[in-house]
Amino acid sequence: MPAATEAAPDGGAAGGGSFVLLSVGQVSFIVGYLWAIGLYTYSIVLHRRKPLQVTLSKAHLSDPDIESKAHQALETTSLVNGDKSSNGASKPTGVLQDFWSTPLVRCMLMDRQAIMDCGDTLLHMVEFGSILVWFFMCDRTDLFWQAEKWYNRDMFWFLFLCLTLVALGSSLQPVRTPLLLNRPQTEEWKGWMQVLFLLYHYFEARELYNAIRIFIAGYVWMTGFGNFSYYYRTGDFSIGRFCQMMWRLNFLVIFCCIVLQNSYMLYYICPMHTIFTVFVYACLGIAPQLNKSPVWMWTKIGLSLGAIFVLWDMKPVFYALWGPFDWLVGYTDPRKPGPDRLHEWYFRSGLDRYIWIWGMVCAYIHPTCMKLLNMIEELPAFRQLTVRALVLSVTALLGWVYYVHIYSLPKLEYNKVHPYTSWIPLTLWCVVRNITPKLRTYSARLYGWLGCITLETYLCQFHIWLHSDIADGQPKYLLSLLPGYPMLNFALVTGLYVFVSNRLFHLTNELKDRIVPHDDNRCLARNIIQMLLLGAFVFGIGWVLERTVVLHMV
Ligand SMILES: *[C@@H]1O[C@H](CO)[C@@H](O)[C@H](O)[C@H]1NC(C)=O
Repeated sequence: MPAATEAAPDGGAAGGGSFVLLSVGQVSFIVGYLWAIGLYTYSIVLHRRKPLQVTLSKAHLSDPDIESKAHQALETTSLVNGDKSSNGASKPTGVLQDFWSTPLVRCMLMDRQAIMDCGDTLLHMVEFGSILVWFFMCDRTDLFWQAEKWYNRDMFWFLFLCLTLVALGSSLQPVRTPLLLNRPQTEEWKGWMQVLFLLYHYFEARELYNAIRIFIAGYVWMTGFGNFSYYYRTGDFSIGRFCQMMWRLNFLVIFCCIVLQNSYMLYYICPMHTIFTVFVYACLGIAPQLNKSPVWMWTKIGLSLGAIFVLWDMKPVFYALWGPFDWLVGYTDPRKPGPDRLHEWYFRSGLDRYIWIWGMVCAYIHPTCMKLLNMIEELPAFRQLTVRALVLSVTALLGWVYYVHIYSLPKLEYNKVHPYTSWIPLTLWCVVRNITPKLRTYSARLYGWLGCITLETYLCQFHIWLHSDIADGQPKYLLSLLPGYPMLNFALVTGLYVFVSNRLFHLTNELKDRIVPHDDNRCLARNIIQMLLLGAFVFGIGWVLERTVVLHMV
């Protein structure tokens, strides 16, 4: 087994000396973080001093059951929507009065009851902030070590096989209705692709480059598939739901950018999924009454293809359109600086520019495919077997042709044909995975769970699993907590990393539920305005502090 060489971290993080030069965003983050810690501590003190005064004044203080229920009621009151649960939704208050009486504002004005009520939200904020501090400590300071990546094919597949056997052996679960591409199945699919994607980064398994490109296409395909199915089935184009999705995709990454001084494009998966999610929303949400007619639906799909052709395949159009958004999607690799800051965005989003449309098509023809499958399953046993054998043979043949002529191409040539061919392996996989009802019914929940937290494992890997060392740098190294023991370190760091990713998944959702309501646009608008004001306020304090205190320290 190759020994991992431990490279000494070269000098200080950003400044190179004993101090770290902080940006305005970072100072603002610290201000917000300390503020949350302070308020949370205060809420604990208040709870100790006057336990549950208001709620319990009418209840029997001696009854422990009621006490715990009242406690729960307090704990679940949210920071921003709290007024809804306590006052009832239909109370006709003036907008302005409402605006100044939300728990957020009351907390800021040090209203004791509000602070007590928001205890658990504050705890979430503190936990979220602490995780970001952990990101910074691991990635930008020399508290820990960094190790070089090393690849060993045997080790790579050994690890993957172990995990797969555990997943299959211990977490197989049936679904009630074995639909084609049911939710647990797509989650499982995301999960094992993500594991390979991450191991590919950890071990720098260059020989898997083309496979990884297909996996990323698989995620984008699922964006088209999942979102189309949802909008088509429910017709729910509400702004609330849309904002929830945007929150889910971008909440964590925004904080990563601020705290680690990185570009949005370093985490290219996020802008890519965001833009394609918006496209699916636009495709179905513009003139939604037309979705019922197949002719119009196919026209919309055709128009999407045309739009992508104009916006991506005509490169000058792409550059003209995105030029003004350089601040958002521009990227320069500090280790290989080039002149074209939009190249990364053009390249990454371009690779999968068509596959989300294929995802939409698959979702659209899903009922037809399901009927076909049911027809096969009603045939007599021998005929069923023949049909399946035939389908599998054709799949194998096509797969082989694809493998020889496309998959085996070298990286650069492969990238050229990828946008037009990635649908082939994905579709073949869907066929194989769903060929019998038994296969469709069962999926491995361990992978399904990992499939649910892919966004978090994607973002966390940069900072607490791998190590990028400098702002905007690609994660070239490994984080090492146990220098000299590469495998033990791998186990330890991976355990921590998956645990933190899972926590972030829950925190993102908890905070989302409190701040982005699904079907109350007035409340949503108010919350957005309050968040922006609060953000501006904290940022202002950060700016002043950075100008006065931090600069003078230097
Ligand atoms: C829509 O796509 C986004 C991005 O991949 C994903 O997070 C979300 O779960 C999808 N929505 C549905 C309903 O599948």
